[in-house]
Amino acid sequence: MKFPHDFLFGAASAAYQLEGAWNEDGKGMSNWDEFVRIPGKTFEGTTGDVAVDHYHRYREDVRLMAEMGLESYRFSISWPRIFPDGGGQVNQKGLDFYNNLIDECLKYGIVPFVTLYHWDLPLALEKQGGWHNKATIDAFVHYAEVCFNAFGDRVKHFITFNEMIMFCGNGYLTGAHPPGITNDPKKYFQVTHNVFVAHARAVLAYKRLKQFGEIGITHVFNPAFAVDNHEDNLFAARHANEFDTYWYYDPVLKGHYPEYVLQQLQKSGLTPDWDPQELADLQAAAPQNDFIGLNYYQPMRVEKLHEVQQPIEHSRETSTLAPGKASFDNVYRTVKMADKIYTKWDWEISPEGFLDGLLMLQARYGNVKIYITENGLGDEDPIIEGEICDIPRINYIKTHLIALQHAIEKGLNVKGYYAWSVIDLLSWLNGYKKQYGFIYVDHNDNLARRKKASFYWYQHVIATRGAELQNQ
Ligand code: FCB
Repeated sequence: MKFPHDFLFGAASAAYQLEGAWNEDGKGMSNWDEFVRIPGKTFEGTTGDVAVDHYHRYREDVRLMAEMGLESYRFSISWPRIFPDGGGQVNQKGLDFYNNLIDECLKYGIVPFVTLYHWDLPLALEKQGGWHNKATIDAFVHYAEVCFNAFGDRVKHFITFNEMIMFCGNGYLTGAHPPGITNDPKKYFQVTHNVFVAHARAVLAYKRLKQFGEIGITHVFNPAFAVDNHEDNLFAARHANEFDTYWYYDPVLKGHYPEYVLQQLQKSGLTPDWDPQELADLQAAAPQNDFIGLNYYQPMRVEKLHEVQQPIEHSRETSTLAPGKASFDNVYRTVKMADKIYTKWDWEISPEGFLDGLLMLQARYGNVKIYITENGLGDEDPIIEGEICDIPRINYIKTHLIALQHAIEKGLNVKGYYAWSVIDLLSWLNGYKKQYGFIYVDHNDNLARRKKASFYWYQHVIATRGAELQNQ
């Protein structure tokens, strides 16, 4: 099957993970710039200070993307580059950088797909309570409007937030991301609510400004499946989906929170503080969302947590949140299954879970427009006689693209696929060891770029629009 002609083949990145230039050209400090300097927070103390120096090498990088035949590039804007203090004076050099990057993409016909928030919050705002402080909502909406006005003539696809569950959950439950707070479910739910309001108001602002493009949000897509058909385990899987999927998707797509979770929160005194205007804005914005972005790496295999069992600790950088088993969530645990296949970092490889999960979404939300905004394999790529032979990555992406072909045949409205990542970059907590890119970065040779086997493979997939995937 050929992917439709309007389907976008892309690849993705995020500012903190590849730009570097952390204190250049007037950029302010972000929460991550501070967090990575706290001993023990990241793998061997790695930081994104230099990252892969994309800030200075973006021309070369975009040229490589063009050579690969990439139709669209998803990248994020660093808020503290635009507003060094979170608000107030705009930093013109920050705007210049993204204007240049956008123009460079367009020069080759590459469609820019822009994320406004991929986790790097201006430190000045973090110091005032970050996302727990409702003033951050207004600051975000203002920043979003500045971006719409500055870039909206050329950027027709905006994502407000990347993976709320990760920065909210890791920020306030596991402590693995800034602000590093552990096990505070009260704050966690409040923060999720505040971010939903920020998203809704940014969507409404986008429409008010008549941008004539599309806007949506990107969520972790980590569908939960019970390990077997035992009713306890089926219930546990439903609970996991309610808290980790529906809590995130319902307010965006339906404009209100899921009933089951609301009841649970009420019982445990965890209901966020909200006012009627905020709830009205969620409702008003819902039909204005143009799409939902899904980041899929793996599903969750879930069983009921019995009192004698310990919750299982997950690897820290994972698309499964593993909320440190806060009290509200103490009913299930995710498990590794003997008949499944896993990566070196214990992430399950499951194109079937991808397809089944998409069908689960279709059943709940109908045929909403979907972009797969991330999907890929983290690995330590073998170098054989000088060639970067990332064959496992090729297999991973191939089987997931085939799953997507089946999804489209079943009527799902999927309009694009962005592999994570376009180039090797910083893994939030695993440093530079874990690679995802089509383009290799040689840390022993002045960050030189080299094409991997997957680079040529994806080039061919794009050129043939996926027609040969199922016979490879
Ligand atoms: C996702 C993040 C992305 C990257 C991948 C591996 O959770 O959006 O920045 O780190 O995981």
